[in-house]
Amino acid sequence: MGRGTMNFDSLEAQRIYSDRSVDENWRVWCRQYLAPANKDVVDIGCGGGIYSRGFIFLGARTVTGVDSSAQYLEEARLASPSETKLSFALGSATASGLPDACANIVFQRAVIHHLTERDRWAGAAELWRLLRPNGVCAVQDRTLEDVESADPVFWIRATLFEEFSQLLEFERARRPTAHGYAGALKERDLLTFAYLRTPKRASAILRSASLRQR
Ligand SMILES: C[S@@+](CC[C@H](N)C(=O)[O-])C[C@H]1O[C@@H](n2cnc3c(N)ncnc32)[C@H](O)[C@@H]1O
Repeated sequence: MGRGTMNFDSLEAQRIYSDRSVDENWRVWCRQYLAPANKDVVDIGCGGGIYSRGFIFLGARTVTGVDSSAQYLEEARLASPSETKLSFALGSATASGLPDACANIVFQRAVIHHLTERDRWAGAAELWRLLRPNGVCAVQDRTLEDVESADPVFWIRATLFEEFSQLLEFERARRPTAHGYAGALKERDLLTFAYLRTPKRASAILRSASLRQR
């Protein structure tokens, strides 16, 4: 467990990341930037497999979801259709246990803020190791800039930070800046290809993304 903040194998964490489908906006984004049809996809930190199933929906050839939580993997299996194209495996963001160059797309959503800084760097090397030549890596997460952005119409966090400043300290301790994380990716030859932000629907759409072709 990274950062000591959340136990993903606890009762309280049950089914948070399995009981919904991906947003249509994510599908549009995914088709446009990742074009997953007929590709082999690895989803690192897949949780209950919401996005793994999203890739299957979009026509991926195979999807392998990897997570360090046995509980989430069990939920992922229960929530997924039993099809051979989709599989789940126990592994970590720094050592997935998958073979070198096994994926055209390596995807990682809402994971990096759970990793220590050291593991974030090791994780970037693992993303690179899994990619095939001409593969694409996509990391999606809210950066520190995202959580600090004050847009009270769409984003209640800024208001909460005003009331409870310790929440902001908590976020500062666990979220990398876009620039800082791009540095970790660049070190591993995963240069930032796109930094995407959207002001709307922060809970449904990711606020930033890094893409890079190997
Ligand atoms: C916020 S959830 C995101 C789940 C999924 N990616 C999604 O977006 O629905 C974070 C996930 O990362 C997993 N995780 C945290 N640290 C990890 C690590 N070091 N290695 C692999 N998975 C990890 C957790 O078990 C959890 O399933």
